[in-house]
Amino acid sequence: MMNREDYVKQIPDYQYMRETVKKDENRLHFHLMPPTGWMNDPNGLCEFQGINHIYFQYTPFLAGWGTKLWGHYTTTDWIHFRECEPFLFPDCDLDRDGVYSGSAFVDGDKIHYFYTGNVKLQDKDYDYILEGREQNTIHLVSEDGVHAGEKQLVMTNADYPADMSKHVRDPKIFAKNGRYYMVQGARDCESKGCVLLFESEDLMTWKYFDRIVPEEKFGYMWECPDLFEVDGQEILIACPQGVPKSGHDYQNVYQCGYFPIEMDFENKKYKLGEFHELDKGFDIYATQTFLDENGRRILIGWMGIPDADYDNDATVEYDWIHALTMPRVLTYQDGKLIQKPLEELKSLRKNKMVTSITSFGEWTTIDCCFELSVKRDDENAAMILGLRDDVTLTYKDHILKLELGKSGHGRKQRTVQLNSLKNMTVYSDTSAIEIFINDGEEVMTTRVYSEKLNQKVRFLQSETDGEIEVYNLGSFVME
Ligand code: FRU
Repeated sequence: MMNREDYVKQIPDYQYMRETVKKDENRLHFHLMPPTGWMNDPNGLCEFQGINHIYFQYTPFLAGWGTKLWGHYTTTDWIHFRECEPFLFPDCDLDRDGVYSGSAFVDGDKIHYFYTGNVKLQDKDYDYILEGREQNTIHLVSEDGVHAGEKQLVMTNADYPADMSKHVRDPKIFAKNGRYYMVQGARDCESKGCVLLFESEDLMTWKYFDRIVPEEKFGYMWECPDLFEVDGQEILIACPQGVPKSGHDYQNVYQCGYFPIEMDFENKKYKLGEFHELDKGFDIYATQTFLDENGRRILIGWMGIPDADYDNDATVEYDWIHALTMPRVLTYQDGKLIQKPLEELKSLRKNKMVTSITSFGEWTTIDCCFELSVKRDDENAAMILGLRDDVTLTYKDHILKLELGKSGHGRKQRTVQLNSLKNMTVYSDTSAIEIFINDGEEVMTTRVYSEKLNQKVRFLQSETDGEIEVYNLGSFVME
C-alpha cells in the first residue's frame, strides 16, 4: 500500500534518485521514461479538452518490480511534456498490491477510468493462479484528468465467469450501438488465454456479455486487450503469454499483436482472423490505443517486456528502467495494420541530409539521435546496414535480421519475413532503436546500450542504390 500522503512524505528521501538519473547518458531523448524507478504499461491514454494524458505503471522509488501506482505525463503537442503527480495510488484494500493496468473513457465533460485493483493474499501458501489473488475492477471519474474521484468497485472475481482463474485484468472500454462494452484479459481454469467482454448501459453496472476465444489454444493468458475499429476494420489487440516460438514468429517470451475481428454484438458472434505481431523487435508489450480529438487511432507500447532473458542493467545502475515507444498512428490498408510515427515528431528534425546509398560512406551520429530513411531502387537486393559498432540490419532472401552484439545486453537477433524491402526508416535514440519497414507494415523495436554514443552509420554492403534522407533529432522538452 502507498497512499498519496506516504508518497509525498517519501519524496525527500528519494531525491538522490533524481540526481542519479540525470547522470545517465542512456536517458532517452524522444521517448517517455519514468522520472525515476520503474515504468511498464501505458494506461488511461486519452485526449481530453486538448490535453493528451499518458498514465503508466510506475514504481517511483524502485528500479525493479514493486507495488504499482499510475504515473502521469501530459502533452498538447507530443514534444513538450509535463510530469504530473501520480494519478492513482494503491491506497485501499481493493488495490493494496498494485493499481494495475486500465484505461480511460472520455464521456462528455468527464473521464471515466477503469483499472484492476491487484490483491495478493498472504495468509496461506497459494498458487496465485487458481487461488490467492483478487483482481477487482475499479471505476472512478475525473473532471480534469489530474484529480481522481472516489474509487468504486464494479466487479470482483465472483462476477467473472466461474471457469476463470484468478487472472482477469486490464479493462478497456468502448461504446457501440449506444451501449458500453469492456474487454478484459483472462486465463481460464484450464490455462487457456482469452478475452472477456462485459456490457453496461451507464458505465456503473456491468454484466458479463461474452468471451473471445481462439479455436485452438493460443497461450495460457492474454493481457492488455484492446478492441477498436480503424478504417472500417475491427481489430482486437492482445498480449498472449505462452505461445511457442515458430520460425520467424513469436521469438519473444510473450507476444503483443492483433487479430482482425468481425464482431456481431446483436447475435453474440464473432469471427477471429489470424494473429499478427505488432512489432518484431525485442522490446514491445502491453500496447494501448486511443482515439485523439483529431480522430487518429494512436498506439503507444511499453518498450520492454516481462521475464525476458535480456536485461536493462545499464539503466538500473542509474535508478531507472524501461520506457514507452514513440506514439504510432494506426491505419488499416490492404488487410494489414500500418503503424507510423506521429506527424508531430517531425518537428524534432534538424540538419537534413539527402544522399544515396552509394555516396553515403560513413556518417557519424551526434548523440545517436537520428532518423534515417532508405528508399531502395531494387527492393529485392541484399544489404547490410551498420547502425552502431555492433548493431546491424541485414536483408537477404526475404528476411530482415536485426542483430546486436554486446550492446544488446543479451538481445541477439530478431528476424522478420518480408515479400520485399522497399523502404525503411530507422529512429535511433540514445538507448533505443525503432525501425519502421515498408511504410509501417512491420516494426522492430529494441533497447540498446552502446559504450559510446557517437557512432558510425554505414552500409557494410548493398547490392542496390537508393535514396537516403537523414536528420539529426532533437529532444522532448520536460516542462
Ligand atoms: C502487463 C501487466 C498487466 C498488469 C500490469 C501490472 O505488463 O502484467 O497485465 O495489469 O502489467 O503492472
